[in-house]
Amino acid sequence: MLPLLLLLLLLCFLFSPPTIHSLNQEGLYLHQFKLSIDDPDSALSSWNQRDSVPCSWDGVKCDPTTLSVTQLDLSNTNIAGPFPASILCNLENLTSITLFNNSINSTLPLDVSLCRSLVHLDLSQNLLTGALPHTLSELPNLKYLDLTGNNFSGQIPGSFGRFQKLEVLSLVYNLLDETIPASLGNITTLKMLNLSYNPFFPGRIPPELGNLTNLEVLWLTQCNLVGVIPDSLGNLKNLKDLDLALNNLYGSIPSSLTELTNVIQIELYNNSLSGELPPGMSRLTALRLLDASMNHLTGKIPDELCRLPLESLNLYENRFEGELPESIANSPNLYELRLFGNRLTGKLPKNLGKNSPLRWLDVSSNNFWGEIPATLCDHGKLEELLMIFNKFSGEIPATLGTCLTLTRVRLGSNRLSGEIPAGIWGLPHVYLLELVDNSFSGSIARTIAGASNLSLLILSRNNFTGTIPDEIGWLDNLVEFSGNDNNFNGPLPQSIVNLGQLGILNLHNNKLSGELPKGIRSWKKLNELNLANNEIGGRIPDEIGSLSVLNFLDLSYNQFSGKLPLGLQSLKLNQLNLSYNRLSGELPHLLSKDMYKNSFLGNPGLCGDIKGLCDGRSEAKAAGYVWLLRAIFIVATLVFVVGVVWFYFKYRNFQRARAIDKSKWTLMSFHKLGFSENEILDCLDEDNVIGTGSSGKVYKVVLGNGEIVAVKKLWSGMKKGIDSGDIEKGQVQDSVFDAEVETLGKIRHKNIVKLWCCCTTRDCKLLVYEYMANGSLGDLLHSSKAGLLDWPTRYKIALDAAEGLSYLHHDCVPPIVHRDVKSNNILLDGDYGARVADFGVAKVVEATGKGTKSMSVIAGSCGYIAPEYAYTLRVNEKSDIYSFGVVLLELVSGKRPVDPEFGEKDLVKWVCTTLDQKGVDHILDPKLDSCFKQEICKVLNIGLHCTNPLPINRPSMRRVVKMLQEVGPDNQTKAAKKDGKLSPYYYDDGSDHGSVA
Ligand SMILES: *[C@@H]1O[C@H](CO)[C@@H](O)[C@H](O)[C@H]1NC(C)=O
Repeated sequence: MLPLLLLLLLLCFLFSPPTIHSLNQEGLYLHQFKLSIDDPDSALSSWNQRDSVPCSWDGVKCDPTTLSVTQLDLSNTNIAGPFPASILCNLENLTSITLFNNSINSTLPLDVSLCRSLVHLDLSQNLLTGALPHTLSELPNLKYLDLTGNNFSGQIPGSFGRFQKLEVLSLVYNLLDETIPASLGNITTLKMLNLSYNPFFPGRIPPELGNLTNLEVLWLTQCNLVGVIPDSLGNLKNLKDLDLALNNLYGSIPSSLTELTNVIQIELYNNSLSGELPPGMSRLTALRLLDASMNHLTGKIPDELCRLPLESLNLYENRFEGELPESIANSPNLYELRLFGNRLTGKLPKNLGKNSPLRWLDVSSNNFWGEIPATLCDHGKLEELLMIFNKFSGEIPATLGTCLTLTRVRLGSNRLSGEIPAGIWGLPHVYLLELVDNSFSGSIARTIAGASNLSLLILSRNNFTGTIPDEIGWLDNLVEFSGNDNNFNGPLPQSIVNLGQLGILNLHNNKLSGELPKGIRSWKKLNELNLANNEIGGRIPDEIGSLSVLNFLDLSYNQFSGKLPLGLQSLKLNQLNLSYNRLSGELPHLLSKDMYKNSFLGNPGLCGDIKGLCDGRSEAKAAGYVWLLRAIFIVATLVFVVGVVWFYFKYRNFQRARAIDKSKWTLMSFHKLGFSENEILDCLDEDNVIGTGSSGKVYKVVLGNGEIVAVKKLWSGMKKGIDSGDIEKGQVQDSVFDAEVETLGKIRHKNIVKLWCCCTTRDCKLLVYEYMANGSLGDLLHSSKAGLLDWPTRYKIALDAAEGLSYLHHDCVPPIVHRDVKSNNILLDGDYGARVADFGVAKVVEATGKGTKSMSVIAGSCGYIAPEYAYTLRVNEKSDIYSFGVVLLELVSGKRPVDPEFGEKDLVKWVCTTLDQKGVDHILDPKLDSCFKQEICKVLNIGLHCTNPLPINRPSMRRVVKMLQEVGPDNQTKAAKKDGKLSPYYYDDGSDHGSVA
């Protein structure tokens, strides 16, 4: 019986129905949500249907007693798809939804208002588009609404004024393009209103915002605000943070703002505010940070303001005058004081820095005088000491020599004197030491050996003496050493050839003697060598020919002797001056050119085809006849000119049918020219056209002396893009054009196409560039000849172009934004060296330090335009970096920036989705040798980094150069060795502000 019973039991056990754990209704809704959304990273993998309640699922929170879902937080999970309001709003107790930083797209549906319990809704940093749902204000309990960083457009619905309990409204970084509605003034519960960075239509600050008496934060940065600041803002008694920066507000700062007794921070920079700071600022007892820079404010900096315990005071680029109140030195917390570009006078408070942890001090471009306070670094925090263009006198206080935190020291253009404290030379973090135009004396101390970060050492126009110490050769990061117009003597130290980063060595007008050191070939980056007016002798070493980027060479007025090195011929110099030495022998053939006719004067032993050489002896004899020769010359010139004029008019009649009127050409030239404008005009035949761009035709012109140049003919009044890909609206204004051309003409960099000159008439302009034999990268890469570009060549092109752009962004003052970076604007010389070209639409960005000006012209080409640029018209370096990222993707993939193959997408989107869905092998150009795959992937990564949709996440161009260099095969080991510790000079992304030129 027993076995039978056991068997029965066993059977019962086997066939008994399993316990049913069915998911509750709310769980089913959430599961439905999971099915409705794209989840590429399986962030919802813990959402298991076999659970009975969803309370343990990632991102889900329930009420502990009723087990009803109350919160959903799926931030940073990479989920994508439309916001499923109709599903989520079934969760009747859901009070908080946070989907921050995902790819929620499409429009936000009107029925989001069905989520009746919602208190907290955060959909910031997603891809939502279209209008803001006017129904949002129907959510009776909503307190927190954050839609920052989406693509919402149109207006802020007037209905938003009906929110019952809203405390936080943040709509930053969208595309809202109407005005700010006055009805927002009805949301009296509001504590934070943040509408910054929207391309609003120009409008006033609604005075009704003064009704928001609970408001603690009002952020309206860059909202296209015009008009005056309404008095009513003084009613915001609870306000802690008022930010109205980067608008076009004018009028004076209303005195009602002094009633903001709780305000901690006021940002008014970059407006057009005028008048004086209002009286009564002493009432702002909570104020810690005030920035009213870049306005037109006048009058004195009030003493009562300086008595507040401020932390940061920025009033630069205004018209303040009078003295800086002594009381500022008693501020216990002051760490930032920037007053440059005003009309301030008097002495700096003598205890400045004694009572507070001063970190940044910039008083440049004022009329301050007296001594530099010795207390500036008393708290050991001072990093930037910027005092250029004042009348400071006396010596540099010795206390600064122990201020180890210093990174930038600029004391140029003052009346300072005495010796530099030895400690200053060796400060370990200083990368810029600039002392030009003072009366400093003494010599460079050997302690300079400790200045391991020094990049720029600029000592020009002082009374420095002594020899240049051997220790200078230890400064691995030195990029510029300028010490011209001093009394340095003795030879250049042999160690100076160790400076592998050196770009500029300028020591003209000193008393240097001896010979050039051996081994100068290691100056691989030397661009400018100016040792004119010294007593240096010996031979000019043949090695000089290996300085491949040398551009400017001036050794005039020295005692160099012997033959000219043949290597000189291989340099591509814009400036060559070896005059007044003791050189002898035959001039190398390639230097016997007219453009060098003033390069070799006063070397009696030097012979060549250039007039004036080798006739030193006859000169003296001829001296007596000079007046006669002059007279004859003048007569002959007159006859000649009359003849030419006569001939010209004849010729002009004959040529009338020709398209170009040569009569009123004006020539602007930036380099020593070996040709004349007429020579160019004669060659502008249709046969010579090598390209047609958006702004005009490009001709190849072979000049009489065999040189080849590229000539771009622009027609003023041109508006239409001829390249189908180009967008170019608006008209180029003449004066602006000229100013720009002049700036660009001055640029000298190995990776930037040289602009030789520019000729203008009323209706036509010619730009003469150096000729680039291999045309544009775009043409080559997307043609049948793409095979010529193997990976090492492409890598080199990427690095070259990056260096060119980095130069424009970081080394030009003011910085230049290219605005039309694309593969067609990267030109290749005979050796596939790349140069950035066509600044047709480049504008010099006024270096405001913080903001950038809005441009009136859209520029750029399809597929290259950074997302923020297309709608805000805000131009900054970051938009160039995006475009450069697209070029990197082109180099890696071999694809065009826009291609029918991608459908709606552009290259950036195509790369992103293909990478996600199919993997990297589907992106890389099959023409590239797979043995480089690792390197190519690294460059791809840099490209993706540069094309980040958020400008703030893109690296600076300087950083891009570094990253690219680290990819290179020969630099990998080096980078590893340095352990990523590179000169801060290269990581310094803060642009120098305008006054510190
Ligand atoms: C929501 O919460 C209320 C009150 O706590 C409760 O009675 C109700 O059952 C909850 N709803 C669900 C679907 O659990």
